[in-house]
Amino acid sequence: MLTFFYAFITLGLIAVVAFNEYYQRSMKACPMPTAASTRKVMIDGIHQASPKVIAELGSGWGGVAMAAATRYPDAQVIGFEGSLMPLLFSKCRKMLHPRLKNLRFVKKNFFENDMHDVDVVLCYLSNPHMAQLEPKLHRELKNGAEIVSSTFYMPHWLPREQSIVGGVYNTPVYIYEKTNVPLPENLSPTAQAAQKIS
Ligand SMILES: C[S@@+](CC[C@H](N)C(=O)[O-])C[C@H]1O[C@@H](n2cnc3c(N)ncnc32)[C@H](O)[C@@H]1O
Repeated sequence: MLTFFYAFITLGLIAVVAFNEYYQRSMKACPMPTAASTRKVMIDGIHQASPKVIAELGSGWGGVAMAAATRYPDAQVIGFEGSLMPLLFSKCRKMLHPRLKNLRFVKKNFFENDMHDVDVVLCYLSNPHMAQLEPKLHRELKNGAEIVSSTFYMPHWLPREQSIVGGVYNTPVYIYEKTNVPLPENLSPTAQAAQKIS
């Protein structure tokens, strides 16, 4: 009986690891959570007094979206996550916080989501994700919308602010504001700015 139990647990663990590996490869990002100190700097970076819609792109285990929903109870906070395990975990986590009625987690590729109604974008992704997101956000976000990105910067968009969160890693946080200024084709001011602070 005990052997069956151990076999069941082992197979379960193998399935979880295999699932995670599969999604990690297809999402091209590991579900590494943002540290609490960086989370705070990200949420503090939002300047809008009362954003209506906050989207976290790649919400992982749910920590950043939960912090945003707690700080902005009147905003609708949506966490988009494509990987099954972190998504299920964040949904369970939300169940433990029933007061967060303004928060939902959805399984969706965020590149397929229209961003026209989003006031604030939160993300911690990768350089290729940011390069792909930049033209989409520039096209779809309204003027004044804010993007707060941990670690990774947009290749051509000049940040309004940037800070370094000290700790085990020095984590940069970039804050952008959508304007009408067209994206330059060859320049990379964010790359230059990022070099200055690293
Ligand atoms: C580095 S983790 C960050 C998790 C969370 N944002 C945090 O800061 O704690 C990046 C997450 O983005 C997800 N992701 C990457 N590309 C995605 C896509 N196109 N659509 C939805 N989720 C995506 C990955 O599955 C991963 O969980």
